[in-house]
Amino acid sequence: MSEQPKLRLGVNIDHVATVRNARGGAYPDPLRAAKLAEEAGADGITAHLREDRRHISDADIEALAEALTVPLNFEMAATDEMQAIALRHKPHAVCIVPEKREERTTEGGLEVARDENRLAHFIAPLREAGCRVSIFIAADRAQIEAAHRIGAEVIELHTGAYCDAHAEGRFAERDAELERLREMASFGHSLGLEVHAGHGLTYETVQPVAAFPELRELNIGHFLVGEAIFLGLQPAIAEMRRLMDEART
Ligand code: PXP
Repeated sequence: MSEQPKLRLGVNIDHVATVRNARGGAYPDPLRAAKLAEEAGADGITAHLREDRRHISDADIEALAEALTVPLNFEMAATDEMQAIALRHKPHAVCIVPEKREERTTEGGLEVARDENRLAHFIAPLREAGCRVSIFIAADRAQIEAAHRIGAEVIELHTGAYCDAHAEGRFAERDAELERLREMASFGHSLGLEVHAGHGLTYETVQPVAAFPELRELNIGHFLVGEAIFLGLQPAIAEMRRLMDEART
């Protein structure tokens, strides 16, 4: 098989902040994790400033925006408050995600098709400010078409259902989810969108997704922060990088 373009790895550091906030102090410091991730070969750092500030804080975003040498991918809900913060920092990328107060994590993709007009107006100033706008969506044709229509440059496909099916041993469903992701990555690419993916990926689940030729970036966080307890952050990231590269060759 011929060599494919490099797949970028965005390391999500939200859960370094989760551990810090469990005690309300200053450590472990997400910025320190981000700098170590850079050294370990992360192509970008992803951080989600949630409305309830349960992990990443406003000060974290400020520090990351100032100190990173790799691109910052700022994840946020489509609210006026978050738009103002994004326009202040002008991160390299903004990823629009759905957010529910009661959820433990970002459970599904954004409902773009039913909120097209509002979202088109919402992302326009972000694009004008030079941010690359990405929309986090399910691997669904109607959502991808809507993301394209509102002017997003990037879609990030939600891999949670695929990863959950794998973890719970529902292998027929896992394979069907993987197939859906594969087809929708190809469909998104055919519309001219840059295609990313993420959520719930582990060493066991990353390779079949990393092998999609249309994919340009994976964003991975919770598993890497967990593995860092056992391996250290940099070896954990290096192993993910190795698996991704192996899947592409
Ligand atoms: N991509 C997006 C858009 C996300 O919201 C998240 C989780 O915050 C991730 C990737 C990373 O997911 P995980 O932490 O499960 O690897």
